[in-house]
Amino acid sequence: MFGKLFKRNREQVKLFYHTDIHSHILPGVDHGSQSIEQSLDMLEAELQMGIDRVVLTSHVTAMTFENTRESLMDAFLKLKDAVTDAGMEIDLYLSAEYRMDEYFDKEYAADHLMPFPGNYILLENSFQQELMNLDDLLFDMQVKGYKTILAHPERYTYYSRRRKRYEQLHNAGARFQVNILSFTGYFGEEARESALWFARHGMIDYLGSDMHNVKHAHIIMDYINSKEWKKLGPEIASTVKNDMIIP
Ligand SMILES: [Fe+2]
Repeated sequence: MFGKLFKRNREQVKLFYHTDIHSHILPGVDHGSQSIEQSLDMLEAELQMGIDRVVLTSHVTAMTFENTRESLMDAFLKLKDAVTDAGMEIDLYLSAEYRMDEYFDKEYAADHLMPFPGNYILLENSFQQELMNLDDLLFDMQVKGYKTILAHPERYTYYSRRRKRYEQLHNAGARFQVNILSFTGYFGEEARESALWFARHGMIDYLGSDMHNVKHAHIIMDYINSKEWKKLGPEIASTVKNDMIIP
C-alpha cells in the first residue's frame, strides 16, 4: 500500500506554511490521483515540503466530474484508512473545487456544497470566460455565510489585459488562491506574469499546489529550491493565510 516514488528526502526545502488548500489527491474521482498508491506518493511529497494538513479539493464540474458529497466521502474514507495504515502523520480535510456552471447551480440551490471547516468554498471560473453573474453569485454566497475563494485567478488569461477586474473581485469579497505551479511557467508565460503581478500587489491570500500527480509535486519541489522562490517566498509570506484557514 505504501507509495513507491517518494523516498524521504530530508534535504528538501520546506514551504513557509503547513496547509495545502488546493489538491487533487483524492483517488479515482477526477483527473488527479488515479489510485490510493498515487495518493500516498503525493501526500509523501506534501510532507517533504512541510505540509501536514491537506484539503482535498477534487473537481466538481458539469458533465465531466459530477461528484457528489457521497462519492467524495467514500473515496475520502478509503484514503484516510490507507494513510493511517501507512503511518503517515498528515491531516486530511474533505471539500471540493467547484466550477461555477449549471451543475454547481443545482448543487448550490440544493444546499449540497461541502465547504472547508470555517465555511470556505473554493470556486473555479471557466477558462473561456468569466461567469456572467459572478458578482451577484459572490454576494449571494457571502450573505449565506460562505467565504469565497477564487482558485488560481492568474490562470484565467482573459483577465490578464484587464487586471483592474482582479481588484474589483477582491473588493467584492473573493479571496485569491494562486498556484505555486503558475510561478514555474508550467501554465504558460501569461499565467506566470499574472502570478508575479499578484505577488507584487500583495493580493495572494492563499497558495495552493493544485497537485494532480507526482510530476506536479516534483516541479513544485524543484521550484521551491530555486533562487527565485527564496526571494519571493519571504516577500509574499505576510499576505498568505493558508495556516489560518483551519483553526
Ligand atoms: Fe484544481
